Amino acid sequence: MNKSNIMLICASPRHKGTSAMLLERVQVVTGGKIFFLPQRGSLDELVLAMQKAGTIIISGPCYINTYPARLIELLELASIKGNFSGQKLYGIINGGMPYIHTHQHGLICLKLFAEQNHLSWQGGFVLGIGAMLDGKPLEKHMNRKRIVPAFDKFIRNIVEGVQSPNSLYEEAQPPPGKLTTRIFTKFLTFLVVNNLKKYGHDPEAPNYYLRKQEEDKINGSH
Ligand SMILES: Cc1cc2nc3c(=O)[nH]c(=O)nc-3n(C[C@H](O)[C@H](O)[C@H](O)COP(=O)(O)O)c2cc1C
Repeated sequence: MNKSNIMLICASPRHKGTSAMLLERVQVVTGGKIFFLPQRGSLDELVLAMQKAGTIIISGPCYINTYPARLIELLELASIKGNFSGQKLYGIINGGMPYIHTHQHGLICLKLFAEQNHLSWQGGFVLGIGAMLDGKPLEKHMNRKRIVPAFDKFIRNIVEGVQSPNSLYEEAQPPPGKLTTRIFTKFLTFLVVNNLKKYGHDPEAPNYYLRKQEEDKINGSH
C-alpha cells in the first residue's frame, strides 16, 4: 500500500457519525485524506481524485438497505467518466439494525462498480448496531470483544493490500437469537409508541391510508 496514494471517502452527511469514526480508525493506520461526500453541487473533483488514487476506502451508513443515494450518484458519475486502472477498492457500511444481510447490498454495489470499471474489489466490512455508537469509538460497541479485533484485522488487510473476506465480519456478528429479537422489537415498538404519544398522536388510530379507504367507502368511490 502506498500511503500517499490513499483516498478515504465518507458517504454520510454526518461528519461526526459512525461512518466517519470507522474511517478515522482506518486513517490512523493507513494515513491518507478523508473526503466528505458533498451533499450538493458537482462531484467531478471527487471522481478526479478517485482516478488518481491507488487505494480507495468508502465508509457510509445504510439508508434503506444500501448506501445513501448520493454515493450511488458518485459511483454512476465515476462509471460514466471511467479512466480507472486497477485502483484497490474497500468498503465499509454500518446500519442501525443488528444484522448483516440488511446492510450487505452496499458492498455488492461497490463490488459491481469495481468489476465493471477496472478497479480491483478488495472486500469490505459490514457493521451492525452502528446507530447506537453514534460516532463513539468502536470499543463502546455492544459486541466489542468480537468486533474490535475483526475490524482491526480488516485494517491490516488494507495495509497489506490483500483481499478482506466476508467471513471476517460475518463470524464476528452472529445474528441475534429469537428471544433477543423479540425483546429488541418490543423495545423499538415501545420507542415508536412513546414518540407518537409525545407528539399528540393516538398509536391505536388507523393510519392515513386506512382512514382514506374508510372515507372512500362512505363516499362511494374506490
Ligand atoms: C434515511 C435513513 C435511512 C436508514 N435506513 C436504515 C436501514 O435500512 N437499516 C438500518 O439498519 N439502519 C438504517 N438507518 C440508520 C443508519 O444506518 C444508522 O443510524 C447509521 O449508524 C448512521 O451512520 P452515520 O452515523 O455514519 O451517519 C437509516 C438512517 C436514515 C437517516
